[in-house]
Amino acid sequence: MNVAKLSITGLTESAPNLGDTLDSDYTTFQQYLLLMGHCLKHGLRAKKTFLVIADDPIKTLQMEPHRPGIPCDMAVRGQDSSIKESKTHVSQKLQPETVEDPSILEAVDGLRYLKGIACGHLSDVNLAATPSPSSKEWYLKVSGLSKKHGPVFTVHLGPWRHVVVLVGHKAVQEALGEQAEGFSGRGILATLDQTFDGHGVFFANGERWKQLRKFTMLALRDLGMGRREGEELMQAEVQRLVEAFQGTEGRPFDPSLLLAQATSNIVCLLLFGLRFSYEDEEFQAVVRAAGGTLLGISSPWGQTYEMFSWFLQPLPGPHTQLLRHLGTLAAFTAQQVQQHRGNLDTSGPARDLVDAFLLKMAQEEQNPSTEFTEKNLLMTVTYLLFAGTMTVGATVRYALLLLLKYPEVQKKVREELTRELQAGQAPSLGDRARLPYTDAVLHEAQRLLALVPMGIPHVVTRTTQFRGYTLPQGTEIFPLLGSVLHDPEVFEQPGEFNPGRFLDAEGRFKKPEAFLPYSLGKRICLGEGLARAELFLFFTAILQAFSLDSPCPPDALSLQPAVSGLFNIPPAFQLQVRPADHHPAVQTR
Ligand code: HEM
Repeated sequence: MNVAKLSITGLTESAPNLGDTLDSDYTTFQQYLLLMGHCLKHGLRAKKTFLVIADDPIKTLQMEPHRPGIPCDMAVRGQDSSIKESKTHVSQKLQPETVEDPSILEAVDGLRYLKGIACGHLSDVNLAATPSPSSKEWYLKVSGLSKKHGPVFTVHLGPWRHVVVLVGHKAVQEALGEQAEGFSGRGILATLDQTFDGHGVFFANGERWKQLRKFTMLALRDLGMGRREGEELMQAEVQRLVEAFQGTEGRPFDPSLLLAQATSNIVCLLLFGLRFSYEDEEFQAVVRAAGGTLLGISSPWGQTYEMFSWFLQPLPGPHTQLLRHLGTLAAFTAQQVQQHRGNLDTSGPARDLVDAFLLKMAQEEQNPSTEFTEKNLLMTVTYLLFAGTMTVGATVRYALLLLLKYPEVQKKVREELTRELQAGQAPSLGDRARLPYTDAVLHEAQRLLALVPMGIPHVVTRTTQFRGYTLPQGTEIFPLLGSVLHDPEVFEQPGEFNPGRFLDAEGRFKKPEAFLPYSLGKRICLGEGLARAELFLFFTAILQAFSLDSPCPPDALSLQPAVSGLFNIPPAFQLQVRPADHHPAVQTR
């Protein structure tokens, strides 16, 4: 067995100047660490900590109250029972005779942060510091481990969380694709679990998930997704966005908010039957809350929280801010649900997804084990609102950035659009087949960005054999989608922007099997159809209407994600749009 061993002992034992050896990246937690350091200094004395080592018994992080009675002391004590519970659970899973992991590794950064605190490293910390974009990328660290340990290995995220990591197309395909049922459980996202609590289609498991997934898919289809009505609805929003871009009259602007609002409006129409003006302040607050949530779960702090939520959750810190953002999204959803209740026509038809859910709830009123409950309604809709607001907008933004960076590609896209589309006609989904180069650029942008590089955690729903290993029921799985989209065995020089990899020798569009930004198997993104349609319509309409420019020379534009964690968040940039000399007035068909 290949075991990378590392143990850290004695938070209060001598570790001279350890703080000095911490990478500068760790200062990204300055604000949080200061708070934590304060708690440790005044309220807790850490006795000893151990990292889990492959076949050693799992050791506990023992905290001894130093000054009983202060809030963080009580909070840590309050965690005791859940710590014990999860310890037992994990110990059972990791019996060496049942799990023969190819390698067992530790993800240690979180403990290093804690160690830094205990060494008094924080005394001269700048409170105003915010998370820095140069923070180390969890995804790169974890995927990098595969160079030494192969495509399947276990990572210990803190003392009690053990995750089997799948790296590269083959491993992910074999697991999620070929053993779809066994790998179809949803794992933990510690940053969101407190809010969602296993409810709603994204976080549910078992029968609850099956029912919610089937219902949501059918409801979206009935509301016109994948049909002409749905396309018209999207085209109308695309046109509004084009008008808003026109309003900038060539001045540089950051397109993030407008793109997020436009894509959010599409999902708001489906969920609530409403579209909001881009100037609407409440709507802006909701969109910003979705952005704050994305940032919160993807930030370096969010990654540490995944490892140490059991310890960090009761303490003050950035997670309270994340909870506030989620609260804004959930409150908005609750308000919409309330309004729908007030004017629901029980004879149908449903005007939107909230109506459809309320009608289903009424139908199942007498069923004591129904999954169509208030909580599942709120949590399903809140997640859809979040996903619909943040994913497509971020991807279009990254595609636009690539076109600023590579003007020759922009030129070719615009030439193809001019050649293939009728003057004055808005692009429609039916045009996709005639626009292979444009489609290739869009796919390559999505591949390069790898919006969800870590994948979303899964669990195995039953004891599962995988590549000769026994994975007990409940084993957590991280299918690293970034490593699939950047698999060098499929995509030559995967870090380069090369739309040509999505074209065959005749210039026809081709999609490699490893193009899996939406994952695969039973949990494949439920919004894939919607996202694909939106991406195409927004991207083509913007390129048809404008030539894109940047106040910075292309060389000065960075393509590195601003934040890379659970999600890769594209960097901010300034865009200038000038009306294209063709297609002056665009009409929808
Ligand atoms: C570029 C856009 C998008 C990307 C790259 C994307 C990617 C993903 C990924 C990787 C997953 C996890 C799959 C897994 O567990 O293996 C997922 C799940 C999900 N996505 Fe998306 N997504 C996008 C847009 C959307 C949109 C627009 C919606 C809906 C409005 C949406 C709704 C969902 C839902 C509900 C799930 C959970 C499915 C389940 O657990 O059964 N996504 N998405």
